[in-house]
Order: sequence, then structure tokens, then C-alpha cells
Amino acid sequence: MTQPLSQPVYRRILLINGPNLNLLGLREPEIYGHTTLQDIEQRLNNTAEKHHIELISIQSNHEGDLVDAVQHHGLLADSEDKIDAVIINPAAFTHTSVALRDALLATNKPFVEVHLSNIHSREPFREHSYFSDKAVGVICGLGDLGYDMALNYFIESFYKP
Ligand code: DQA
Repeated sequence: MTQPLSQPVYRRILLINGPNLNLLGLREPEIYGHTTLQDIEQRLNNTAEKHHIELISIQSNHEGDLVDAVQHHGLLADSEDKIDAVIINPAAFTHTSVALRDALLATNKPFVEVHLSNIHSREPFREHSYFSDKAVGVICGLGDLGYDMALNYFIESFYKP
């Protein structure tokens, strides 16, 4: 008798990009590179789809919108629509936002913090992050490759035997 094929397990990842990251490609390319956010999201989407992951991407310049998105996808959505993990580049909110930190902690979902630039080799105010101590990992200074690395980490952690 043939075994029924088992259905792939679908997972969801919320990809959050904070203020001014909509300007990637235009904004200080010597620091942030030439790749646009649309290109990054598209590339991650392609990888995610191959691994039965739905990527929900949000970029906003408004702190409250990001808090609302985290609350919704992490906690308030129906259980079958809830995310399993978060990849976040909080951008300038990295250094200021207790509200976004609290929202992420409220969801109790694992998150990886990504920065395109090495925040430790720049102005002193960029050294402190309100997220790093709670992140499962922090990737910084590797440009937009950091997003792919974060996604690969979750692919491994979701599906490793
Ligand atoms: C950033 C670093 C932050 O300090 C800065 O405010 C950003 C981008 C990065 O990706 O390198 O907007 O998060």
C-alpha cells in the first residue's frame, strides 16, 4: 500500500524594516549598498517559498505602525495566521524604541536582528541596541547578505531533524 504524501508544514516569518530603509539604494550607498529593499524582499521571498515559508514583509517610517504589525502578526491574528519568527532591522529605532522591543517580547517569538552596517564601528550612539539582548542572534556589517543569513538560520531551525 502506498503511503499518503505528508503535507509540507507551512511556516510564517515577519520581515520588519524600520525608518528610512525604504530608501535603500538611494540612501548613503557607501554605507548601505546599492540594493533596494524591494530587491531584498523579492530575493528572500524566493528562498522562503522554496522552503514552504510565507514571508510577510513590512517597512514603515512610523514606530506605531511597526508596533501594530508585530502585535497583529505575533499575537492577535488567528492562530493559523500567526508568525513563527521575526527578522528585524529596526534601523534608527534600534537605538530608541522600548515600545518596539516590548511588542516583540509580548509575542514571545524568536527574532534575529539585522543591520546592513557595522553599528559598532560608527557613531557611539549606534552602539546600543534595545533588541540585541533578546535576539536569538545579531548580524551586522555584512550588508544585505545579513537578511539571507537570518532567513537561512530559521530555515535550518524549523526543519532540522
Ligand atoms: C541600520 C543602522 C542604524 O544605526 C541606522 O539608523 C539605520 C540602518 C543598518 O542597517 O545598518 O537606519 O539599522
